[in-house]
Amino acid sequence: MKRRSFMRVLVAGGATLALSGCDTMPASAIAPWVSPGATESDPRLRALSWALLAPSAHNLQSWVADIREPGLIRLTVDLQRLLPATDPPHRQVLIGCGAFLELLCQAAAQQGQRADVTLLPEGEYAAGGVDARPFAVVRLSADPGVSPDPLFAAAPLRRTNREPYGAQVPDAQVLARLAGAARRPGITLHTSTDAARVARLRELAIAGYRVEFSDPAAWGESAEVMRVGAAAVAAEPSGIALTGTMAWFGRQLGLLDAAALRKTDGVAARTAIDSSVKAAQNTPAWAWLSSADNSRRSQIEAGRAYLRVDLAAAQLGLAIHPNSQVLQEFEAMRALYDRFHAEVGVAQPGRVQMFVRLGYAARPDPSPRRALGQVVRV
Ligand SMILES: Cc1cc2nc3c(=O)[nH]c(=O)nc-3n(C[C@H](O)[C@H](O)[C@H](O)COP(=O)(O)O)c2cc1C
Repeated sequence: MKRRSFMRVLVAGGATLALSGCDTMPASAIAPWVSPGATESDPRLRALSWALLAPSAHNLQSWVADIREPGLIRLTVDLQRLLPATDPPHRQVLIGCGAFLELLCQAAAQQGQRADVTLLPEGEYAAGGVDARPFAVVRLSADPGVSPDPLFAAAPLRRTNREPYGAQVPDAQVLARLAGAARRPGITLHTSTDAARVARLRELAIAGYRVEFSDPAAWGESAEVMRVGAAAVAAEPSGIALTGTMAWFGRQLGLLDAAALRKTDGVAARTAIDSSVKAAQNTPAWAWLSSADNSRRSQIEAGRAYLRVDLAAAQLGLAIHPNSQVLQEFEAMRALYDRFHAEVGVAQPGRVQMFVRLGYAARPDPSPRRALGQVVRV
């Protein structure tokens, strides 16, 4: 079926009230967002119940928490949850792990626990790789002197918002609050609302979507982690969830099976480009987090900083959306990577770790998370 006829069917589907309940997000997949940790007595499990709500590339949730040693949380990268085509050095995976670590520490502080963090306690990963050694160990200890982080109140509210944003431009005060929240060692948040620069960044972002979504390996990697329909999301509540009436119709029409999803000229890839372009065209501000170097520590710190910006945005009613394409290290992206870095004036040994849209839009529903028991080794 041609894409236009498919879209017509989908539009018709959207208007069919009798189908409004098709393939809705399963409650089990978003259950981790409801009262995280409320039933846990171990402070580590209470804190980890919050940490797993952190953002991660493709929602892969590439973290494992080993709590077999009393008082200690040993955090490793889940080596089964990597993105070798779009994230060959596993940089984005480590940023997600950094976001997890920051949320863990904030959740611990909230319950009066001091979190002593040691990064890479068993040594650095080899260049370009990650392995079974921890990216951090965290020791929790009760400490009445520990102060909760005011950002933590926004943890249940934080979302990645991929919608087109309204015309309202975030003001200087709001952007300064975000920059303040981002402060972590070696990390700086930059923002732009200048119309000419916003337009240049938009064109770079759009070029990035076109490269990633039309590259068979890069797009294929996204397709691989798409969960189409309620049953698939319930079975594996990570990755890119396609739910709702559109997904239901797509499934019935055979347009969203594994082979169809992988096609770079298929409905899923073309819809991804179209909706991303529309979103970029409706973006009043862009922001980017740069690091002084590209060490593993800086990548983890960038993740901690991003989580803090994400929470600050949620607190300020601001929508935020990472656009990682132009930061990716696969060959077809190299020229855009260079053009983007020239545009923002970040040169080696520094680099940009996160590039995001900012603006105002209604807050979306939460995305799926794996249950605590799938993340923790006891
Ligand atoms: C390192 C990193 C890179 C990301 N890159 C993108 C991206 O390029 N496009 C996008 O739509 N979302 C991106 N995201 C957002 C994730 O897809 C999102 O966190 C995940 O789907 C979970 O959804 P949530 O943030 O609403 O909880 C990125 C997140 C992280 C941590």
